[in-house]
Amino acid sequence: MIQRHRLKLCAIFRAAAVAILSLSTIACVAFCQQPLQTLLVGIDRRPAASLDGDWHYLVDQAPGRALYNADGSINDNSYAMNEHPVIVGKHNEEYDFSTAPTIRVPGDWNTQVPQLFNYEGVVWYQRDFEVQPAAANTRTFLHIGAANYRTHVWVNRRRACDHEGGYTPFDCEVTSVLHPGTNFVVIAVDATRLVDGIPSVGIDWFNYGGLTRDVSLVTVPSVFIDDYDVHLEHGSQFDPANTELTGYVHVIGAGAGTRITVAIPEAAVNAVATIDASGNAPFRVKATHFTLWSPETPKLYKVTLSCGEDSLTDDIGFRDIRVDGTRILLNGKAKFLEGANLHAEAPIRGGRAYSDVDVATLFGYLKDLNANFVRLAHYPHDERMEREADRDGIMVWSEIPNWQHISYEKPEVYAKDVIMLKEMIRRDRNKASVILWSVSNETPNNPTRTTFLTNLANEARTLDPTRLITSAIIGPRAKGLDMINDDPLCEALDVVGQDEYIGWYDLTPEDADKIHWTLPQKPVLISEFGAEAKYGNHGAPTNRWTEEQQVYVFQHQFAMLQKIPQLRGTIPWILMDFRSPVRNIPGLQDGYNRKGLISEDGQKKLAFRLFKDAYEKHSLGKPE
Ligand code: GCU
Repeated sequence: MIQRHRLKLCAIFRAAAVAILSLSTIACVAFCQQPLQTLLVGIDRRPAASLDGDWHYLVDQAPGRALYNADGSINDNSYAMNEHPVIVGKHNEEYDFSTAPTIRVPGDWNTQVPQLFNYEGVVWYQRDFEVQPAAANTRTFLHIGAANYRTHVWVNRRRACDHEGGYTPFDCEVTSVLHPGTNFVVIAVDATRLVDGIPSVGIDWFNYGGLTRDVSLVTVPSVFIDDYDVHLEHGSQFDPANTELTGYVHVIGAGAGTRITVAIPEAAVNAVATIDASGNAPFRVKATHFTLWSPETPKLYKVTLSCGEDSLTDDIGFRDIRVDGTRILLNGKAKFLEGANLHAEAPIRGGRAYSDVDVATLFGYLKDLNANFVRLAHYPHDERMEREADRDGIMVWSEIPNWQHISYEKPEVYAKDVIMLKEMIRRDRNKASVILWSVSNETPNNPTRTTFLTNLANEARTLDPTRLITSAIIGPRAKGLDMINDDPLCEALDVVGQDEYIGWYDLTPEDADKIHWTLPQKPVLISEFGAEAKYGNHGAPTNRWTEEQQVYVFQHQFAMLQKIPQLRGTIPWILMDFRSPVRNIPGLQDGYNRKGLISEDGQKKLAFRLFKDAYEKHSLGKPE
């Protein structure tokens, strides 16, 4: 009898021990794991709980007394606590989100709240959200598509993450701080421009502040795919009949030897690989049945990546892009890029572009222009833009906002730049439409900057050896009517972007007829050229600010460009008028840069027709 009781007791203790062990294991997974801050690749292909909608907001009048302690560190104990009824005097801040006004997320605050139109300081956001009990062995991330410029995130009073940069996404793990039922998130966004920021302080576009892109919650298995790269082998030669599919899948939470698969049913591909100790699984497989992605055939394949319980299906196009002498070769064929520049400005509505409607309207303009290319100036746009470009067969120049004057002498600024470069490449490396990574725009030609940007260009090439590296070079050195670009930065580039404003800022429109260019023996894109015109302002071709004068400048430009033998693309500045704090001529600019081919209200100027016809006839340059 006693023996049986002893055995029973042992069994009970053993079961209790197992239960405690497994609970502590789960608890450890949840609590011992350092919360992760990352950028989940393909997140727009995962199910998500949207947190878009109305959020409460409070303005923390610059310099942000509630956000910053006296020493500049972040105050975790003020608005982040989301206390109410507010405890007067506890922190000398008096606030209450529950009775505060609301603002739409995503969306900049400037165009939503008239009193905040010119505000560039700190705004606090807050909302409650419901959470269902989490399935075992899962991890949950708060996804922010972009927030301009510095962002600090708290969930249920716990700091979840911080981010600097106004144009790239970030994902903050909140697994351990969520609980079933009502939770709340508080986010502080500081739009203050910084001398050591990227971009720095004096920019020619509007510094829209806030949670400017989608916010959501994404839950993944505890073993999950956080990064991947699936592309055609980029060897020294390209032979479509004999190429391979290669890349990697990176997994978090799995041990070495765990299996991953890359399946592309339509192309009869089913690659299997195993993870190494770092969570990385390189793979390689014969690729013989692909329809290559191009503007003519923007073919995308369903690519399913799997590991354990996690899988996601992305839409990926496969193509080869390379230079050969002064030619740009897409899938082995020489291409001439007929494009336009574009800021992330919402047509008609105004403000920062973020929605399906904004993207559809902007690509409608590009297709109407007969464009096959777009430069997404001067920063990564909403991910929807590259998704649309993939579908429409429009090639993309993607850029980090090293715009003109950056603190090139500071290593900490270089470090920030590398982070932004990595975020841009990580998010969009599987988008076939992106053919160029740009490291800068119009930077001063001096040794410190050249070293800084040459290193950054080489960093980009290391991160992604399958694409071309470029930069937009500021106007050339003029010797009379000789325009000379001997900028040493060009040595680090595969493709040279050349900005110039002959006929608007420099010389006269007619002078363009007599200009001789000296340019590097590489593919050259005229990455900015144009003139301002207010839509509906008509007059003689010599009258500046008229639509006719804008056309006149371009007509003389066209004659000049056709004399440049290594010209491989034209990118007029800019597709659509856009807000800028430095464009203040009343009656003509009224806060807008008016070099658009289209007004901010979607009205096409005469110059739009000029380019539409030129691109239809392919009359501006030759692919070889
Ligand atoms: C510069 C710059 C643009 C600017 C444009 C202009 O080249 O790259 O960001 O808006 O010229 O002066 O209109």
